[in-house]
Amino acid sequence: MQYRLATSVAAALGALLLGACSSNPEATSTTNNAAVPDYWPSIQSPIARSDEVEKKVSEMLATMTVKQKVAQIVQPEIRDVTVEDMREYGFGSYLNGGGSFPNNNKHATPDEWIALAEAMYQASIDDSLDGSTIPTMWGTDAVHGHNNVIGATLFPHNIGLGAMRDPSLIEKIATATAKEVRATGIDWIFAPTVAAARDDRWGRTYESYSEDPEVVGAYARAIVTGLQGDISDGNIDDQHVVSTVKHFVGDGGTEHGDDQGNNIADEETLFRIHAQGYVEGLGAGSQSVMASFNSWHGEKLHGNKYLLTDVLKDKMGFDGFVVGDWNGHGQIEGCTNDNCPQALLAGLDVYMAPTPTWKPLFHNLVAQVESGEIPMSRLDDAVRRVLRVKVRVGLFDLPSPANRSLSGDKSIIGHPEHRAIAREAVRKSLVMLKNNDHLLPLEPNSKVLVAGDGAHNIGKQSGGWTITWQGTGNENSDFPGASSIYQGIRQAVSAAGGSAVLSVDGSYDEKPDVAIVVFGENPYAEGNGDIANVEYQRGEKSDLALLKKLKADGIPVVGVFITGRPLWVNPEINAT
Ligand code: GLC
Repeated sequence: MQYRLATSVAAALGALLLGACSSNPEATSTTNNAAVPDYWPSIQSPIARSDEVEKKVSEMLATMTVKQKVAQIVQPEIRDVTVEDMREYGFGSYLNGGGSFPNNNKHATPDEWIALAEAMYQASIDDSLDGSTIPTMWGTDAVHGHNNVIGATLFPHNIGLGAMRDPSLIEKIATATAKEVRATGIDWIFAPTVAAARDDRWGRTYESYSEDPEVVGAYARAIVTGLQGDISDGNIDDQHVVSTVKHFVGDGGTEHGDDQGNNIADEETLFRIHAQGYVEGLGAGSQSVMASFNSWHGEKLHGNKYLLTDVLKDKMGFDGFVVGDWNGHGQIEGCTNDNCPQALLAGLDVYMAPTPTWKPLFHNLVAQVESGEIPMSRLDDAVRRVLRVKVRVGLFDLPSPANRSLSGDKSIIGHPEHRAIAREAVRKSLVMLKNNDHLLPLEPNSKVLVAGDGAHNIGKQSGGWTITWQGTGNENSDFPGASSIYQGIRQAVSAAGGSAVLSVDGSYDEKPDVAIVVFGENPYAEGNGDIANVEYQRGEKSDLALLKKLKADGIPVVGVFITGRPLWVNPEINAT
């Protein structure tokens, strides 16, 4: 039996084997004083502070009311906010979460994405109700391409890209993704995730480039550069987007791999293992950081002033803004989703406030500033950071979303050049685990049986964060322009005069020359992917049975394993 760990997220094993397998550092006491150790570096962003930008921001700040300022730091989600709410409040930004689409329509066209962006923008600059003309910004998760949009190019997930060891290709992927996002009128991507996944039981392992902080750092720099483009003039052009390095900090190092769990690393380990993506990503000029759900020694990052302010802003010199993660502020002790001054006081700058709680949160923040519980200086600093990035991304100079250079150009979505980059990335992310008797490469003019439930299932081969949040509930017809693994094999084999027959259960009439069995994990995202044990199909090894059956029939078998992380598949590898 031959093994090719299939794509998308495979080769984590490769990353695992190549990365230094470090012992899990023991907890030691953490520093709570503001004397930040010297190993946290001061970062020189390629976007230098500009007197002209600061003057423009100061002039805006000087005219803003408390409500207008608070609106800049509350970020609702498109399922909970209307265009009229935007007109009344003038939110500084809004988002669509995973599996969230204009008009709640999974099959929304690029024109519908643009129409929502245009309507929200026009409502934000309409000062008839809120007195504000500050344009809003739309943020979205482009985890592996513009994955919410039907027809967009999907790239392998980060762990598969990490196995490529090709930062230059990563930069091309980022640039292509930025263009497809801009073609739908969106300005800002919540990417790259720069977690160093240290426990593969974590459901977000596949969103990490590697457990090796050096790989994470190299990729962070390349992705940020690809997403934001050449920013040497201090600006992000309208073919690139604002990037976000996330989730700050230590999300990949929680106990037992618990998503949103507790990281107990000592501070120097936290820096050396989990912060290298920020050193490199901010060094490449990333303009926003997303706070993490996890805790560090029991304290939620969304409320951790030492890390958000003393380390990230004061010591490292980050002058963009810190955005929260999906009501993450509500997890701070003493906070709720609609009432949490603690987050702003700790150094959060923008509350990601999905669900209808954005409204009471807004009014509570206004009251807390007016009462002095939140100093005006902290609110001003947060708003200044948001406006500074808006100036840098040209938001005040660009035309409205519908009139920008790539907007509405449907040819960009799923562009052949982008798909060619994706195919190259898939090839490079595959990992060969075993090749007995040099069965691979196959004679292309063979009679091939393609089996397994991953053979002709584009949703399965794409993983989580694919159209829907969990990557489930999709049909092959939801992926125009894409091809399943079976379709790819059939195309290659037929071209050489061979034949490929699809048989998910491995049954056949005419005995094939070789069988390719495509199997592996079903899609998941975030905590839904947390597992207690890395044994594959623990307790019901149906794929192992299929491999054994075909082998017992005397058919050479190639296994293609699709997975979001390294798993214990020794029985499957050793089935013969
Ligand atoms: C999610 C994720 C984060 C994402 C955000 C918006 O919960 O933790 O990575 O950017 O919400 O969808």
